[in-house]
Amino acid sequence: MKLAPSAHRVTTAHLQAVYPFVCEGGLGKNGVYIGQDLLGGAFIYDAFELYEQGVLTSPNMLVAGQLGRGKSAVIKTLCLRQLVFGRQIVIMDPKGEYAPLARFCGGSVIRLEPNGSVKLNPLDARIARHDQLRLLNAVCAAVLGRPLRPQERSAVEAALSVITAGRRKPTLPLLVAALLEPREEAATSLVTDRATLTEWGREVAFELRRLVSGDLKGMFDATTTKGIELDAAFVVMDLSAVYDSDALGILMTCAAAWLHALLQRGTGRKTLFVVDEAWAILSNLAIAKWLQASFKLSRSNGLQNIAVMHRLSDLAATGAAGSQQERVATGLLSDAETKVVYAQPHAEIEATAKLLGLTATERTLLPLLERGVALWKVGERSFLVRHHMGATEADLVDTDFRMVRAR
Ligand SMILES: Nc1ncnc2c1ncn2[C@@H]1O[C@H](COP(=O)(O)OP(=O)(O)OP(=O)(O)O)[C@@H](O)[C@H]1O
Ligand SMILES: [Mg+2]
Repeated sequence: MKLAPSAHRVTTAHLQAVYPFVCEGGLGKNGVYIGQDLLGGAFIYDAFELYEQGVLTSPNMLVAGQLGRGKSAVIKTLCLRQLVFGRQIVIMDPKGEYAPLARFCGGSVIRLEPNGSVKLNPLDARIARHDQLRLLNAVCAAVLGRPLRPQERSAVEAALSVITAGRRKPTLPLLVAALLEPREEAATSLVTDRATLTEWGREVAFELRRLVSGDLKGMFDATTTKGIELDAAFVVMDLSAVYDSDALGILMTCAAAWLHALLQRGTGRKTLFVVDEAWAILSNLAIAKWLQASFKLSRSNGLQNIAVMHRLSDLAATGAAGSQQERVATGLLSDAETKVVYAQPHAEIEATAKLLGLTATERTLLPLLERGVALWKVGERSFLVRHHMGATEADLVDTDFRMVRAR
């Protein structure tokens, strides 16, 4: 006797997880057009919309791919198309390639360079106290190249309290001075003496001096320049002047943490916060931790963090199994439920497949993807998408053309 297998019912969401591509019904109609779902119709995506529908529990996004595959192009057009829906766009731009787009949209470009005309004050009065402390911790960790020790954190907090209570507007030079020569009351507040408190804060103060009087001075060491426009719909932080500096990671962190802290005040708008070339800030554990914390925080703040990098293994490269680095990498991956993966070299396939839990089909496809085609993992679902651009968009995002012209 032949037994007929009993019928098995599953939701389409579960079926899609088992058979990616094959039974995909798209992500709905609400959102911006990205391009062609190569196994379906138009591919529409909006993290905020999907978050509200409960499809995603986190709006954050990671984009990875080899050089010149179209990572920045897809982000540029996503941003441009999101403007129509009233979203705000804020970009960390280490290569200086987003300015034409910002100008096209009537946005603002903040160009950061040593001793340039723009200064950003990490102790800006517009930033709430607890965000100031978070920002300071990120800045200190960036210059130290490691997380702060508990005594150091206490010394920084005490110094911040002293200068906040003073008559002058708090700035990094005042903080460094307060760390190097702590007041009696700061020591008392920590139940210690001045000599011990000086010891706790000395290394932090010396490293912070790089931003105050050393090679990185003239960007974060005074009150914020008047007229810096953060209310514009499209804001670009152009870091191209320091792209070749070995301190790029430090400066990117200071600037990103400053922007993030100001954005935490809530503008009432949904915001896309893009960190292009994010490898520069992921290479340092302390900074990667800041990014991870920001990824977590933004869920409730209407912020979609987008980190663009070459390899997903940039996240985990430095970490042995079970190490802090590995935990941070895993945390970042789980807090970014949208992963957009362009072609990867063969050497990267294993790591990528492991980090993303790719199926055998996805793994085979990955090295073969052409420019402009990416694997989109949105929650548990997978799409193969060819990104489409209009003629005006293509002109605005064409980095190759810019390079040819510059030559
Ligand atoms: N979907 C696409 N259709 C046509 N051209 C594209 C597409 N995507 C990208 N390009 C072109 O490819 C070039 C490189 O793209 P892009 O700058 O986005 O690459 P990238 O992955 O960000 O590279 P890098 O890692 O160097 O930053 C650009 O000139 C862009 O116009
Ligand atoms: Mg790019």
